Amino acid sequence: MIKMAEYANRRKKLMRKIGHKGIVILPAAKEVYRNGDATYPYRQNSDFYYLTGFHEPDAVLVMVPEHKQGEFILFNRIRDREHEIWDGVRAGQEGAVNDYHADAAYPIAEFNNMLPELLAERDAIYYPLGTHPDFDKQLLQAINKVRGKVRNGMQPPLAFMDITLSLHEMRLFKSDAEIALMQKAVDITGLAHVRAMKKCQPGIYEYELEAELEYEFKRHGARFCAYSSIVGAGKNTCTLHYVDNDQMIADGDLVLIDAGAEYKNYAADITRTFPANGKFSAEQKDIYEIVLASQLAAIKTIKPGTAWEKAQDVIVKVITQGLLDLGILKGKLDMLLEKKAWLPFYMHKSGHWLGLDVHDVGRYQVDGKWRSLQTGMALTVEPGIYISADIPGVKDRWHNIGVRIEDDVLVTDKGCKVLSEKIPKTIADIETLMQANA
Ligand code: GLY
Ligand code: MN
Ligand code: MN
Repeated sequence: MIKMAEYANRRKKLMRKIGHKGIVILPAAKEVYRNGDATYPYRQNSDFYYLTGFHEPDAVLVMVPEHKQGEFILFNRIRDREHEIWDGVRAGQEGAVNDYHADAAYPIAEFNNMLPELLAERDAIYYPLGTHPDFDKQLLQAINKVRGKVRNGMQPPLAFMDITLSLHEMRLFKSDAEIALMQKAVDITGLAHVRAMKKCQPGIYEYELEAELEYEFKRHGARFCAYSSIVGAGKNTCTLHYVDNDQMIADGDLVLIDAGAEYKNYAADITRTFPANGKFSAEQKDIYEIVLASQLAAIKTIKPGTAWEKAQDVIVKVITQGLLDLGILKGKLDMLLEKKAWLPFYMHKSGHWLGLDVHDVGRYQVDGKWRSLQTGMALTVEPGIYISADIPGVKDRWHNIGVRIEDDVLVTDKGCKVLSEKIPKTIADIETLMQANA
């Protein structure tokens, strides 16, 4: 659990960065309609959540350093018996102050009226311009109102600043409490992947494994997936973000599952690939071992000071050498690397930051250079080889073998911790697990 004091510290830190003449304005995520009056499950905007822990829609966070009405002001929904009968209890303004420690809270309907006054005498507005089109208009109107009152001595802000630069830099470094939640998301995800391996057998449908995964997520308190589960068998293992999940799994297929639970808004993102019938074929084994070797080599590089692109360099080398050894690529290693000969087989990057969002925020480059890893950063390492039948010059026996292995890794002072290390990934461990079940 993240304590309210941690949210307060985050706000303090951000306010220190923007200075005492700035103002932060951050709207909550909107409810999104699926059709008619049915909404998609509500998910709070991660920036908003990171600073408040507040998970209701129709809210605006305002941070005004050294403001007389308080520095942390929340505009949110009023308590309303009629709505609460249908949709559940709301925090209201009292809850915003008592439970979320706002210095002051006002009904969201008052936001427009109060905004010009909040903006006056602030030099810069820290607001994610362009990401909330309706809200942009409101804000510009409020600025115009302040401009109209210059004769009364009111001064409109002079600059729009990007809040994301500072905020996302903070989100990139995970606290102990965040790491504990990420570990829980990963642990639940591990149980789900193991369950799917155990339940798999030729003849069932991809969606049946999806159901097994998500059953396991939910029964451990992770009600939502961090992203749409990818469950692909046979040729579908070669579609990177395959989400149809509606085909039958045949004997001899590989199954690729890329699925992660979201626990208290924190994401896991894990991929395992296994044989539908519990035993890898010789060709599947060959490809799998290359991907695994590349992943282990990449993980070994992860420690403070390593440049971000190092993992990709290592993966590309191991994969290219492996494909060369199998005769799938032909030529000299140096030349193949130079020509990027791996690209038809491995067309994505080594991974991404992980946190509240599955593809979490934070810059990968600073001043045009790949940044170095630092303690507290969390990332995925996810190499793959995908041999779809349309890659020219590859013998049939390799076709439709898609393998990705993805783990979630935390950079530590000593090097790194693989949060998902307990989830089986060697051929021996996977086969033993699946055959114990046969
Ligand atoms: N699940 C999406 C990814 O691995 O990045
Ligand atoms: Mn993934
Ligand atoms: Mn990923």
